[in-house]
Amino acid sequence: MPLVLSDLRADHLENPLALRRVTPRLTWRVRAEGTASAPRAHRIRITAADGAVAHDSGWIDSDATALEAVDFEGAPGSDYRWHLAVRDADGAEVEASAGFGIGLADWDAPWAEPVQERVLAEGPLEIGPEVFAPAADAAPPGERLHPPRHLRQAFNLPAAPVSARLRISSQGVHQPSLNGRPVGDGLLAPGYESYQHEISVMTHDVTSLLREGANVLGVILGDGWYAGRISILGRSAQYGDILRATWRLEVDLPDGSRHVIRPDASVRSSRGPIDWSDIFIGERHDARAEMPGWDEPSADAEASEGWTPCALLPVSVPLVPFVGEPIRRVRELPAQRILTTPAGETVIDFGQVMAGRVRMRVRGERGTVVRLEHAEVIDAEGNFLDNILGVNKDQADEYVLAGRPEGEEWEPLFTFHGFRYVKLIGYPRTPEPEDFTAVVIANDLAQTASFSSSHARLDRLVENTIWSQRSNFLAVPTDCPQRERAGWTGDLQIFAPTAATLMGVAAFLDRWLRNVRVDQDAHGGIVPIIVPMPPAMDDPDRPNAGLGDISDAAGWSDAITIAPWELYRHYGDPRFLRDNLEAMRTWVEHQTAGAAASLPAGLDPASLSPERLARQRLLWNGRMNFGDWLAPSTLDGSRPEAAGLDEFSAIMLAPQLTAELTGPLFQIRSLDLYAASAEALGDAVTAAQAREHAAAVRAAFAAEYVGDDGRIGPDMQGIAVLALAFDAVPDEIRPRAVARLVELVQEAGVHLDTGFVSVPFLLDVLWDEGHADLARALLVQDTAPSWLYEVDHGATTIWEAWNAVHEDGTVERMSMNHYAFGCVVDWMMRRLAGIELLEPGYRRTRIAPDLDGVLDHCQAHVDAPAGRIAVDWARTGAGARLTVEIPLGVIAEVALAPGWTLDGPTELTPGTHTLRAARTEEGSAS
Ligand code: BGC
Repeated sequence: MPLVLSDLRADHLENPLALRRVTPRLTWRVRAEGTASAPRAHRIRITAADGAVAHDSGWIDSDATALEAVDFEGAPGSDYRWHLAVRDADGAEVEASAGFGIGLADWDAPWAEPVQERVLAEGPLEIGPEVFAPAADAAPPGERLHPPRHLRQAFNLPAAPVSARLRISSQGVHQPSLNGRPVGDGLLAPGYESYQHEISVMTHDVTSLLREGANVLGVILGDGWYAGRISILGRSAQYGDILRATWRLEVDLPDGSRHVIRPDASVRSSRGPIDWSDIFIGERHDARAEMPGWDEPSADAEASEGWTPCALLPVSVPLVPFVGEPIRRVRELPAQRILTTPAGETVIDFGQVMAGRVRMRVRGERGTVVRLEHAEVIDAEGNFLDNILGVNKDQADEYVLAGRPEGEEWEPLFTFHGFRYVKLIGYPRTPEPEDFTAVVIANDLAQTASFSSSHARLDRLVENTIWSQRSNFLAVPTDCPQRERAGWTGDLQIFAPTAATLMGVAAFLDRWLRNVRVDQDAHGGIVPIIVPMPPAMDDPDRPNAGLGDISDAAGWSDAITIAPWELYRHYGDPRFLRDNLEAMRTWVEHQTAGAAASLPAGLDPASLSPERLARQRLLWNGRMNFGDWLAPSTLDGSRPEAAGLDEFSAIMLAPQLTAELTGPLFQIRSLDLYAASAEALGDAVTAAQAREHAAAVRAAFAAEYVGDDGRIGPDMQGIAVLALAFDAVPDEIRPRAVARLVELVQEAGVHLDTGFVSVPFLLDVLWDEGHADLARALLVQDTAPSWLYEVDHGATTIWEAWNAVHEDGTVERMSMNHYAFGCVVDWMMRRLAGIELLEPGYRRTRIAPDLDGVLDHCQAHVDAPAGRIAVDWARTGAGARLTVEIPLGVIAEVALAPGWTLDGPTELTPGTHTLRAARTEEGSAS
């Protein structure tokens, strides 16, 4: 039987048009139909557009399914095809091919800057209570915001093209069209990044949109992240207050000639039907002002009033190819029901918390204004409740009807909201559910895992996590899609293992990590707590930027070691380590220097013995950080220190109690991952040095904070979990530290009391230390704080706080869509379903279903780089049956809990295996 080749990818993408790297990593999958005949060798030839061979790897004797053609360098702006041949053990060959393009390294087109009103710079410059309260005196958006501009460039082509590419970028967000038809299906291009350092260029294949003769390129330009209200402050114009666009339309004609169309004196612009648009505030569209045909050759648009020439300006910021999946409409959800609330308001329920916006159909009189307000919850009485308060965080759209007798349809262009419910105001008729569709938007990442079991509520927990990931993998990885939409580095590192399991995040996070490094460089080696770091939070008087005293935060800034490591593990691509190793080094050196330079507040160096001083100088504990952020007992008043605290002080209690410990604990974590990364890249010397340093920090930590009785620092669950997970407890004390952790969990009534940074490790620590039953009990606990409490109280996403909705239905004004606590899904995949990555890229995988646990059956899969790894198991009377699917290129080992035996081999080769397990002892150990 022949081998079958599939999933040919360059830099993790199928047929990318414009890569940033000139030497792409090429990967593929091999499947054997019928009896497997293992691949033995492969050969890759890369051909240029004219067919010339640009690279020939020759036959390589290997069963690998990845190749970096090290001596190939693609030419910027060129297209290539790569031809893969694979030979099997019997010498039979199969072939497949795919394409990739290399993006431009330099940019030679000017900005087109339309005549426009400058964006008003408004909103707070500092974090204070008003950031989370509605601005009482804010003028209506119409008085503060400006209308997006429409740009139009007409040009002639002597013939229809054989091939054409549009490369386009903007300061602001853009929507391109050609001859009245949309270019591509992307939204909010070019996305969000540290614009002061570089801006992405989108590349589109527009061959089929052009024709001989007259053509028109249209571009609509909106504020987006560049000039609109963004991030935690909700402040506008953080990168600039003037919108611009630039493009290169490269047209190859049948006669072999190439025409490049750039912005020139012929570009005209006008305002259009959008009165204002802001990604936070919302958008207002006046259908009476639509300009049919404005981007088509037939229209006499330029003659009409209001179309003015654009200024042409040099582009001074680096423009770089956008590599990855664009933001798209990824789902559509019909309205579930339309409610009239006790307050008499009309509220549409879409049944799911999400990020997106509403497409609405409406028929009514010209000039009628329909307003849509968005929120994630309804309150205990069933009324619409705006759970997101804050300056400029209105989340409201308005549509002014043209009065078309056949009805009209509208979806905003340059905004999105975090919502499930929409309050409808001014709708001219009785609204029907079929007139409202929620359009979910996100970077269009493939879902790469599934989990379906006998436990419906756990299945829902996984679904909720996927929804929170979908809502927050939007331009950059964000904390939440409504209140802040900020690239909080901590949230991402916490969720990284789950993120990389559930979705194809390689290109998305590769792009974001580039921003992390750029922002780190701009902050003297400190990895900011938010990336892109919003300029308004950058204080020129401080070497770093951040929130109050917090700039380089344990568990946030460490994203630079954690995220690349997770990506390497999941995708087996060493470039994640290579690209980031230097940034990791800079970061751990910053921690080392910081440790030596400052001691915890209140610790007087003069009062310390030389030994203690030496130890303290090793520990990165002298700066404020977020600690074990939002640890439940610091918020619900159950800790003595929390008594009588107001809301803000209560939130800062976890940092106060734990920051001194999370600092050195994450210092250890970063040193370990830096060492592991150096080692994986073959640098044993660096690895050994980092390990030695980590050992010294561990010893100092233990001496300073770990009591002989196993109590650590403030004696809280989260700190115990981190200290055990990061191996910061001496072996002889470890059993007592574990016992104390178990006691703390029991004292909390079998509830977790872990905050953001410790929760990912809680269940693993308990499990690995012989308390699997307690880990399972925490997972299925359903009173707050717990994962299933949320599920049972109607969550359709993961909440920011475990009790965001109280037992009596009272709603906290928190985010209902923060993915951080969804990190447990990684654990569920490994420990319950039983698919655990052992070697990078899943090349070695453990299959260890939890046959003694809370599930009767489970079906789950992960799309590993080599192919699908799937389990399907069920308990049967005295035993269990297990079907395992392993792709070529992966070796699996089955590991059942003590007390179980397998009727087949424990090492599984590629293929599908059906196995039986029998219980050999009563009450197996767990
Ligand atoms: C965000 C978090 C973030 C945190 C920093 C919050 O306001 O929503 O998720 O990591 O601030 O502690």
